Amino acid sequence: MKFFLDTADVSEIRAMADIGLVDGVTTNPTLVARSGRKFVEVVREICDLVRGPVSAEVTATDFDTMMREAEVLRRISPNVAVKVPLTADGLKACRAITGDGGMVNVTLVFSAAQAILAAKAGATFVSPFVGRLDDLSHDGMALIDDIATIFANYPAIQTEILAASIRSPLHVVDAARMGAHVATMPAKVMEQMISHPLTRSGLETFLSDWAKTGQSILEG
Ligand code: E4P
Repeated sequence: MKFFLDTADVSEIRAMADIGLVDGVTTNPTLVARSGRKFVEVVREICDLVRGPVSAEVTATDFDTMMREAEVLRRISPNVAVKVPLTADGLKACRAITGDGGMVNVTLVFSAAQAILAAKAGATFVSPFVGRLDDLSHDGMALIDDIATIFANYPAIQTEILAASIRSPLHVVDAARMGAHVATMPAKVMEQMISHPLTRSGLETFLSDWAKTGQSILEG
């Protein structure tokens, strides 16, 4: 499973990329607004840090302007994946951009029917939003399962399932169990995945027992 970081905060990306955990990045207009920085500059910096796909979202809602925005975004770096919303114009733009050799992440997907359309439009990634469905008492993870089952019926589908709106390590584990290709998550969720109280206490015990030996590995 690939891990994408869901943020427009370059320092968060740098820290996680340094550990080797970041296969790509997803941003959205809200995350960019939160960063308080210029969109194109942020995307350029992220692309310099991460070799994998970096999703940058168009903000136009009509096909022609989406395509003009996509051109600007694709010019930043070849690893930009243009993010388009699941609308009729978004699907049309998806088809046009992937037909031209670009990567597209179709976002704001909340049903299996929408995911089928994204695949039909040749999307590189389809982003079902797990957490936002859970927030409305719908089972977000059931959607991932459904899409994975449907896509498995059609081996020709190349579209990768990108589990988005991930809120906890359990979401990541469930998405992996269901066969999602990618999970995009905030840095906080990656940190939560790393830490476990038994790892912490176990390490403390090992270190205090080791100190009693008076040895140092570096001294041979
Ligand atoms: C994905 O690409 C989106 O940016 C993101 O996962 C949305 O998450 P949220 O529902 O926590 O805002």
